[in-house]
Amino acid sequence: MKILVTGGTGFIGSHTVIELIQSGYDPVIVDNLSNSNISVLDGIREISGKVPNFYEIDCRNREALRQVFEIEKPEAVIHFAAFKAVGESVDKPLEYYSNNIGSLAILLEIMAEFDMHNLVFSSSCTVYGQPEQLPVTEESPDKNAASPYGYTKVVCEQMIKDVCHSKVALKSAILRYFNPIGAHPTGIIGELPNGVPNNLVPFITQTAIGKRDTLTVFGTDYSTPDGSCIRDFIHVVDLAKAHLAALEWLMNANTTFEIFNLGQGRGNSVLEVVKAFEALTGEGLNYKIGPRRSGDVEQIWANVDKAERLLGWKTKLGIEEGLRDAWNWEKQLQAKEQIRS
Ligand code: NAD
Ligand code: WQD
Repeated sequence: MKILVTGGTGFIGSHTVIELIQSGYDPVIVDNLSNSNISVLDGIREISGKVPNFYEIDCRNREALRQVFEIEKPEAVIHFAAFKAVGESVDKPLEYYSNNIGSLAILLEIMAEFDMHNLVFSSSCTVYGQPEQLPVTEESPDKNAASPYGYTKVVCEQMIKDVCHSKVALKSAILRYFNPIGAHPTGIIGELPNGVPNNLVPFITQTAIGKRDTLTVFGTDYSTPDGSCIRDFIHVVDLAKAHLAALEWLMNANTTFEIFNLGQGRGNSVLEVVKAFEALTGEGLNYKIGPRRSGDVEQIWANVDKAERLLGWKTKLGIEEGLRDAWNWEKQLQAKEQIRS
């Protein structure tokens, strides 16, 4: 079964492509390489033994995307393609609204034109802002996204919901990821942050390997047990597997629109992550305590009962495995860079 994977050379997309291949699906990738590298395809081949059909296309290029549908006739779409840097979205809101909302609008029109009805969509826990009750469930009424990026996800979710409830027979699983970490356990593919990483775990591994001097822990004066923020970190391989579960659920579902939280269902503090990394490497990490980062929520973790109940999915890997695989990936990246130079 052919599955169109937009953003399939990116971090989460590439891990999902591998899971799809290993489960007998035939993924087809569309990516404009704005935040990924074509060499990811070599990694996918090395791990899975297959190279998916790849189209270097911007999802906003209606004619090009339509041609992919003509040629490939996919039965479902997993839509990862989007810009995702929260801070950058504050500086460049129009680029974020244009890309994230524009890509989805065009994709939905083409899906309708080709009578293709199954969509798995990448959303984010960012749509919750700081929830009043923890753990947060899909029913949480508040959607106080704290950035233009966050609002693009709120708008995209609403757009999909409206289409699902219209005469277009769209069916969609909206997946709200919490904090994805880690890499493929082979160390062959992983996250490739552009420039200085915003996210905690890439910053930790880059500090440990010597690319960054010092990790700053943004705030230890929060109302949490150790004063640092709390997040729900989910291994990217667990996350990738959830897409298969969602796809299979979607194909057999009677309901047309469902939202799923995807996390471990538990929170870890920033300082706990730092300590777990130090325990893993057996060495101290160069870090300092700094002021709070503007826009950060204090604490959030997921209630994942719905995903467990309807998708039959739950995480198998913890932060230790996430940090181990992220570290392994960072070391392999460095080895490759040394060979090249
Ligand atoms: P990523 O940047 O690694 O992957 C996104 C891919 O989409 C990249 O390969 C990029 O080149 C491509 N892309 C962007 N705009 C495109 C366009 N117009 N046409 C074609 N390709 C385009 O990001 P990721 O971490 O893999 O995230 C995937 C999805 O998950 C995104 O929608 C993101 O918003 C969402 N998400 C990510 C996280 C996270 O922390 N990584 C958390 C929650 C949600
Ligand atoms: C985690 C914690 C930081 C870096 C972001 C997006 C969210 C989603 C996931 C896409 C926070 C602290 C970080 C550092 C630190 N992405 N930190 N020092 O902000 O929870 O979520 O990624 O949808 O939308 O906002 O993730 O990894 O940036 O931060 O102390 O150098 O680590 O303050 O408490 P965040 P993060």
